[in-house]
Amino acid sequence: MTDPALALTTRVQQALADAFGPQWREADPVIRPANKRQSDADFQANAAMALAKQLGRPPREIAQDVADQIAPDDGLIASVEVAGPGFLNLTLRTEWIAAAATHQLADDRLGIPTPGREIVVVDYSSVNAAKEMLVHHLRTTVVGDALARTLQALGHDVIRQNHLGDWGTAFGMLIEHLLEVGEDSDEAKLLETDPNAFYQAARAKFDASDKAEPAGSAGDFATRARKRVATLQSGDAESLRLWDKIMAFTRTYINRVYAELGVLLTDDDIRGESSYNDELAGVCDELEAQGIAVLSDGALCVFSDEFIGRDDKPVPLIVRKSDGGYGYATTDLATIRHRSLDLHADRALYVVGAPQNLHFRMVWAAADRAGWIKGTEPIHVQIGNVVGADGKILRTRSGDVVSLQSLVDDALARAAEVVAQSRPDLDEETRATIAHQVGIGAIKYADLSVSHDSGYTFDLDRMLALQGNTGPYLQYATARIRSILGRADAVDPDGPILLVEPAERALALRLLDFGGVVAEVGESLEPHRLAAYLYDVATTFTAFYEHCPVLKAEDAATRDSRLALCALTGRVLVTGLGLLGIESPDQM
Ligand code: ARG
Repeated sequence: MTDPALALTTRVQQALADAFGPQWREADPVIRPANKRQSDADFQANAAMALAKQLGRPPREIAQDVADQIAPDDGLIASVEVAGPGFLNLTLRTEWIAAAATHQLADDRLGIPTPGREIVVVDYSSVNAAKEMLVHHLRTTVVGDALARTLQALGHDVIRQNHLGDWGTAFGMLIEHLLEVGEDSDEAKLLETDPNAFYQAARAKFDASDKAEPAGSAGDFATRARKRVATLQSGDAESLRLWDKIMAFTRTYINRVYAELGVLLTDDDIRGESSYNDELAGVCDELEAQGIAVLSDGALCVFSDEFIGRDDKPVPLIVRKSDGGYGYATTDLATIRHRSLDLHADRALYVVGAPQNLHFRMVWAAADRAGWIKGTEPIHVQIGNVVGADGKILRTRSGDVVSLQSLVDDALARAAEVVAQSRPDLDEETRATIAHQVGIGAIKYADLSVSHDSGYTFDLDRMLALQGNTGPYLQYATARIRSILGRADAVDPDGPILLVEPAERALALRLLDFGGVVAEVGESLEPHRLAAYLYDVATTFTAFYEHCPVLKAEDAATRDSRLALCALTGRVLVTGLGLLGIESPDQM
């Protein structure tokens, strides 16, 4: 038997390479599940076509060669058939699938491979302090968390970085507003409960005083706020104390949100913009000394022919403003340097909204020129928009952008209704637990089942439906399997798995793909592939359950085998949902 720790397609690939020789591997063959309308085979391989050009032989001939050379005693492949212009249709041995599935059932890792340890930095959530988290922050939090979990499960060293926006110019007005309302006032408490309200109040004062005549008089709010930014960034002790206070409130707020969502981020993962403050002057000096940054109208900028604007001129990356201040680009230069040279990341993921793509490409190009990226691949995992039914950014009836909290509250309320209807028999506390798991699961699954860079329409009805490709549907599948096992009194069925019915075989074959799919997500960084796989497993399970009686199976061996298939399906679903950060309720 080929190494059971390998993904299924890798194993098939290996058998073909064994049959043909090393050239097979070089041809970068694609092996995919066969199209069921064209063939009953399990897989289709196209490498003969690629090899044909290389070897100057007709593809069908090459394919036939391989087919002939597959050892008749190969334990894995039962039959090979040459089809069309030179495709290979492969059918696996049912006994092999059964043995592999039984093996998977005994494997704590369920076939998830450990493809070599990498250091992977994942920058996600990265909200702006003292502003409320909005829908797109929710999505970067959810997608980033799923990637962190998946990469960790693959054995990588994952370093989470919550790059809080904790140092911008907004802190001038936030500090001045805090001083005016009083540090222990109820208004100050808003930072913890409704940070957006606090921010808006400070903003309103700032705007009003900025417009008032005579502007710029020493005592007005806007002038004080601007001065405060400078004193804060120069390290003034009293300003730092007030900043600390705001940040403590902020941490309380975001930790409450993280706890509610069930994401991994803790205070230890916070590495905000402020933490790079001491390095910013050095970043600029070094770029200037290396001739990478030049002065332009008093500002220090990096220009590159790689980034040309509409006016055909290079777009400047401003690393020091003409007033001497540093901005988002400067902190991100220090950030990539830290992640590469100090943390030694093999990959540095930035799970951030798609509109920031140009910013990152410019920052990384400049950092690369400066020699600050060594052995690190920086990757922008672009997050697409979540929009309302009108196709525009989600807004409340009064026109405000929908806050994360209200969105979560809505989902939880709706989930509670769903559970109250489906399980009136349960006590209130149990129902509340399930409703929480279902509501959060629904939101997360909606974020994760669409490719991370495409937008989607936020629609609570669809997200919470128990039918279709939704979180609750998958959660329900796990609960149903638990209940089947419970009724059979089968805590930990261990098979052996026997495959007689086509529906049993199809389910087992699909389950064997789990490890390969997880590995694939670790490479492509696309959790929606795992979501699609889990959905497929759940529907394949449903077909199995409809065709194959489990509790009333015809004999004991069949019953044991089917219970084992149920258990394996349950574990794949629960583990897979877990990698997406979604809990599976005990009952639903
Ligand atoms: N705080 C930023 C925002 O809300 C995201 C930060 C992303 N990370 C980074 N290294 N720039 O848009």
